[in-house]
Amino acid sequence: MRTPLIAGNWKMNTDTAGARQLASAIASRADEAAGTELLVCPPNVYLSLVRDAIGDAAVGLGAQNVYPEANGAFTGETSTDMLCDLGVQYVILGHSERRHILGESDQDVNKKTLAALKAGLRPIVCVGELLEEREAGKTSEVIRRQFEGSLANVSEEQILSTVIAYEPVWAIGTGKVATTEQAEEVHADLRNQLTSRYNAETAEKIRILYGGSVKPDNAEQLLSQPNVDGALIGGASLKADDFLAIAAAG
Ligand code: G3H
Repeated sequence: MRTPLIAGNWKMNTDTAGARQLASAIASRADEAAGTELLVCPPNVYLSLVRDAIGDAAVGLGAQNVYPEANGAFTGETSTDMLCDLGVQYVILGHSERRHILGESDQDVNKKTLAALKAGLRPIVCVGELLEEREAGKTSEVIRRQFEGSLANVSEEQILSTVIAYEPVWAIGTGKVATTEQAEEVHADLRNQLTSRYNAETAEKIRILYGGSVKPDNAEQLLSQPNVDGALIGGASLKADDFLAIAAAG
């Protein structure tokens, strides 16, 4: 009942020619992913050309970050209104690289989430524990804290437009994927939190993606878990063949 979402986070990769080529390749084969929603999230500077390369194909457009204001004196930032103006539908928020390299807190992520929702963008809110937190048995506590902080004051109506992504930090770009049991345990815990905060009917409608070293050869197992509703893919989203093979596994 939840349509799987396969989202490619291109991170700070590609160039003009590469972004156009990758987007065109995915768009031209989007029908291979029937029944699955496809989304590409290129760097901001390539959003327009990727949008044009996608054309009418069934591939969504997402950004990787946003500043939580509609416009104003915020040098170097990109606003919610600008993303909407470019035809962007989704925005990744609270990715671990932004949390750990750029120092974003749950409060920052929450401000962005509320601003994105207000502007009509669909946030993909990322949560995930560090290796030392997992080893210390703190995974559940960390995920709960990030869930509470990043999604504070999100109404029931707004949560229905929101996607959650569980990305264990130790699995990102490392080739070390979470086991299906590890992923399903956290996803089920997240759904329980959604149920407690909202209600079971609403919680059942929210998509929870897994991210962290998803590849064509491990996608099917991960995506077969009852509470894994898609994937947020980094490295493997830079190759159309791999991205579409993962989507086909969903
Ligand atoms: O947003 C995507 C994640 O950071 C996963 O990246 O697939 O390269 O491990 P990865």
